[in-house]
Amino acid sequence: MFHHLNIRTLAAAAVLAASVSAFAMGTRPKGDDESANSRIAPVARVELAAPAAGAAAGNRSGEQIYKAACTACHDAGVAGAPKLGDKAAWAPRLALGLDGLLKSAIAGKNAMPPKGASDANDTELARAIVYIANKSGASFKEPAGK
Ligand code: HEC
Repeated sequence: MFHHLNIRTLAAAAVLAASVSAFAMGTRPKGDDESANSRIAPVARVELAAPAAGAAAGNRSGEQIYKAACTACHDAGVAGAPKLGDKAAWAPRLALGLDGLLKSAIAGKNAMPPKGASDANDTELARAIVYIANKSGASFKEPAGK
């Protein structure tokens, strides 16, 4: 559920590491720039990669939302949650269509908390449902946009 926080922490750590290295580089004697650059390069690369992996909140993929917020119940079938990939369990639910499923996911349903207790917006939630549904017998289209 707090997966995105970890990514943000990681990004912050990478930025910190990069600025510490940059500081060290500034105090290094002349002529050593080349090797300093090659030492700092992997850190800089991590810094660039981290925000991409964390995708801005509000525009996360279905898989990102699923792994951050839905997997806790839908992987193992906790509290009667239909399991990811369990076509028989999902078939009658898929008949509600994406709109119907989105409605019950937003409102919550029995042991399923509203929005799966996530901070996903409606589009992200719909993407997460498409992610689950399409691994469980559906072929829903990803909603576009934000
Ligand atoms: C705390 C456990 C829990 C979490 C977390 C959870 N679910 Fe569920 N989910 C359930 C349970 C239990 C059901 C079955 C509800 C019922 O029909 O009684 C369910 C059902 C659903 C359904 C079917 C609704 C319907 O109308 O049949 C969808 C869609 C769904 N979950 C999506 C999600 C998504 C997307 C997430 C993550 C954002 C998520 N769930 C997180 C427990 C959970």
